[in-house]
Amino acid sequence: MGDFHTPVLLNESIDYLITDKSGTYFDGTLGFGGHSSKILETINKDGLLISTDVDLDAFNYSKSILGKEQNMKLYNFNFSKIKIIAKLESIKAFNGIFADLGISSHQIDDPASGFTFRKEAELDLRMDKTIKLTAAKLINTFAEDEISNIIFKYGEERNSRKIARRIIEKRKAGSIKTTTDLAGIISDIVPERFLNKTLSRVFQALRIYINKELNVLKTFLDDSVDLLAEGGRIVVLTYHSLEDRIVKEKFKYEALTCVCPKDYPVCQCDKVQRLKIITRKPVYPSPEEISINRRARSAKLRAAVRI
Ligand SMILES: C[S@@+](CC[C@H](N)C(=O)[O-])C[C@H]1O[C@@H](n2cnc3c(N)ncnc32)[C@H](O)[C@@H]1O
Repeated sequence: MGDFHTPVLLNESIDYLITDKSGTYFDGTLGFGGHSSKILETINKDGLLISTDVDLDAFNYSKSILGKEQNMKLYNFNFSKIKIIAKLESIKAFNGIFADLGISSHQIDDPASGFTFRKEAELDLRMDKTIKLTAAKLINTFAEDEISNIIFKYGEERNSRKIARRIIEKRKAGSIKTTTDLAGIISDIVPERFLNKTLSRVFQALRIYINKELNVLKTFLDDSVDLLAEGGRIVVLTYHSLEDRIVKEKFKYEALTCVCPKDYPVCQCDKVQRLKIITRKPVYPSPEEISINRRARSAKLRAAVRI
């Protein structure tokens, strides 16, 4: 799996996640099986791991290496379906729930996946190929202000208006079909030294929008807190500020005992504290890890325990 994806913050994730070696665990982002393999190595034979990935290639690869494990079940579902998966497996509560968000190095490097702007591929950006909207359809049919808003909101890109205007001009001359077509359009208007950062932001924005990544993450976090056993842990690795903010805010909200306005003399809300945050500050990869795995440089780990 090392050739496809090097797992990030591997030992730290396992240390935070596993408290009961005979417990039941959920890995929502199976990928190439890095974290799932380590969870399996750590738990006992009477423990159970349920792992899922929405990407069929990642699921098939991991099934080929982990599919015969006795104490593991694999799904090709979105992690937002955690409640459905728990029901299918007759699981009432998990002792640990894990997610390593975003896409794998393989998805980034493989031109067929269409996630990279560095290699020519169809403008797609769907993790789940059953989704109807592709990046090509979005770029060739959405209105200028819709494209600009998506790039601004999900890519935090200041040149969103300029980029959207240019896309509209160019598509009048013929449809924008490939990753390199889109990268070429952006390279016309962004100085060379900012180009990689801008392209990363634009591709990130389109990917988040197409896969509804932020909504899916919110559903997953809401349902995960419902499904955690007392003393069970949730551990999430994020790679950009939009997803990190959602995890941070959710943990903070669930750790509150009261949400009454500050000027109420007595608490009148029914707020129940459900989580205790274990990582007061996020955990970052060490410089050594970053030096051998560049993808780790933007990772943050947050963990909380169900009380
Ligand atoms: C960073 S990789 C995980 C790598 C994995 N931890 C490993 O060590 O091999 C993220 C994976 O999560 C999957 N993914 C992203 N969003 C998902 C979602 N909403 N539901 C299920 N899988 C998702 C991607 O397809 C990708 O394979």
